[in-house]
Amino acid sequence: MDLVKRLEEYRDRERSLTWEGTFKDYFELVTRQPSIAQLSHERVYNMIMADGTETTRLGEPRYKFFADEIFGIEKPLQQIVEYFHSAAQRLEVRKRILLLMGPVGGGKSSIVTLLKRGLEAYSRAEVGASYAIKECPMHEEPLHLIPADLREDVEKEFGLYIEGDLCPQCRWLLDNKYGGKIEDVPVRRMVFSEKHRNGIGTFTPSDPKSQDVAELVGGIDLSTIGEVGVESDPRAYRFDGELNIANRGLMEFVEMLKVDEKFLYVLLTLSQEQNIKTGRFSLIYADEVVVSHTNENEYAAFVGNRKSEALQDRIILVKVPYNLRVSDEVKIYEKLLGQSALQNVHIAPHTLRIASTFAVLTRLEPSKKAGMSLMKKLKLYDGEDLEEFKQKDIRELQDEAVREGMDGISPRYVINRLSSALVRDHVTCINPIDALRALRDGLDQHTGITREERERYLNFISEARKEYDEYARKEVQRAFVYSFEESARTLLNNYLDNVEAFCNKTKLRDPITEEDMEPDEHLMRSIEEQIGITENAKKTFREEILIRISSLARRGQTFEYTSHERLKEAIEKKLFADLRDVVKITTSSKTPDAEQLKKSNEVVSRLITDHGYCPVCANELLKYVGSLLNR
Ligand SMILES: Nc1ncnc2c1ncn2[C@@H]1O[C@H](COP(=O)(O)OP(=O)(O)OP(=O)(O)O)[C@@H](O)[C@H]1O
Ligand SMILES: [Mg+2]
Ligand SMILES: [Zn+2]
Ligand SMILES: [Zn+2]
Repeated sequence: MDLVKRLEEYRDRERSLTWEGTFKDYFELVTRQPSIAQLSHERVYNMIMADGTETTRLGEPRYKFFADEIFGIEKPLQQIVEYFHSAAQRLEVRKRILLLMGPVGGGKSSIVTLLKRGLEAYSRAEVGASYAIKECPMHEEPLHLIPADLREDVEKEFGLYIEGDLCPQCRWLLDNKYGGKIEDVPVRRMVFSEKHRNGIGTFTPSDPKSQDVAELVGGIDLSTIGEVGVESDPRAYRFDGELNIANRGLMEFVEMLKVDEKFLYVLLTLSQEQNIKTGRFSLIYADEVVVSHTNENEYAAFVGNRKSEALQDRIILVKVPYNLRVSDEVKIYEKLLGQSALQNVHIAPHTLRIASTFAVLTRLEPSKKAGMSLMKKLKLYDGEDLEEFKQKDIRELQDEAVREGMDGISPRYVINRLSSALVRDHVTCINPIDALRALRDGLDQHTGITREERERYLNFISEARKEYDEYARKEVQRAFVYSFEESARTLLNNYLDNVEAFCNKTKLRDPITEEDMEPDEHLMRSIEEQIGITENAKKTFREEILIRISSLARRGQTFEYTSHERLKEAIEKKLFADLRDVVKITTSSKTPDAEQLKKSNEVVSRLITDHGYCPVCANELLKYVGSLLNR
């Protein structure tokens, strides 16, 4: 890279961000690009939409703004965006506080953080540019300088919408420093920054007895009160509460329902009137998004409290449950591990998937549908169609489980356990069994769960383990044949030739001797038996296969070994059964002969080159599967 050139570009960019001028200059800018004067909700909405949207598999919108960071919880994100959409049109909802409610570690803070970081970046771009009165502690919109009498004409002629009045300090400056000459008042480009307390604030509850409302709305400035004499002089006041500095942007109210009531009343005024009540001043206009979060218990207590009714009315509640899709859970862990210092440890294939399987199982509610186990539900949710249930059944399942995702194991717990397994001395790789062990051991120290829950969770660990056993066995058996797919295809073609001859009552031709042969009943049965097809049912099954072949053929498609779910299963099982003995002997022999050694080395290197294993986990996998087959 050309560093000097990059530095120059950087300086140019920074220079444009430090633009300063008079109100006159600003007015020219805003008439050319009215969006620079947009209100906070509209700004957030446009920021989200600027990144674009895509459509999910289930036909719902997915916002790219969140897509790289938040996984599997499209519904709450949609509700959040809808809120901003209506609020952007200045509908009544913008006067409500957005409250995210959900279980610990479910992504609430992450969503708010994304919005904050997003605003910072957006305000640095041209589309998201915004400006403020230079000396205003609340960096207010310069259009507030325009006197009420002129606003109607200005709005009509320039298509600008003006809302809100000058804060006491700007009013004082205008009268005393600028002699009422509005056009001369200095204006600056505003760059949102939480660190610099520009347009982004955070309020965190602390000890309710000592915490002061000044943290929200500012307070008397003891150092200047001596100079100016009276408390009602705006110069004697610091407008530096979180609500003041978050003007134009967003304030995060952490654990809102934990605070003392006096703080909630301030919020109530803000949301009802878009004003902040500060010290001895009349109400001060503020335009900001308030986003807050809480957990379910606190919310229930809040709703049960009659005194809070007025505020309840002022809240838009969005439930943020845990993600329920295994493949999205894997993405969460990949993201978190990617941010950690654990880059050089190897994570064996299936490890994150198996840990996710456990986590998602703890979050699911049992279904009343006959034959619907939690594991089946988990697979359906993850997009897999099963024999008896299909994707279209998901709706119904969701309707019967309204609280689903509000309980269970959090991603944070899983990551903490994986990390503790990873940082142990000399660990260069962890596999699914290590992960499950770490998750299990952690349950003893997990304070948030009851004894019954612990029992349930231990059960889920063994279910996740069974899933893994299945994967592990398949993986090794596949690696034992040079090309599993090709062997499967050969076996299938052989089967189909025989089935065709059987149904049409014809003979097959031996490819070498060219003699006519009867269909190979033994071969067909050895495959069909794998999936429990009885002697009586075999004819129907074979005919069904032929019908499928010809209906595919009519549409110009060929029948593959994956075209028929059950036949595929039968073929794989048959191949595995044939392999079983070789695998068993090779993987568990204590004193392998030269042939066995060669075979297992081949398998290990195939696992490494084709399937993402490292030498450690590849060898462990072989040993593990050997012990499974010997049970
Ligand atoms: N659906 C998700 N998508 C992406 N990351 C997630 C998701 N759920 C949780 N996480 C990750 O898990 C971690 C914990 O989430 P976060 O702190 O946002 O949760 P929270 O709901 O604010 O929890 P708490 O109630 O404890 O404050 C974060 O690192 C977050 O990125
Ligand atoms: Mg949080
Ligand atoms: Zn001001
Ligand atoms: Zn490894």
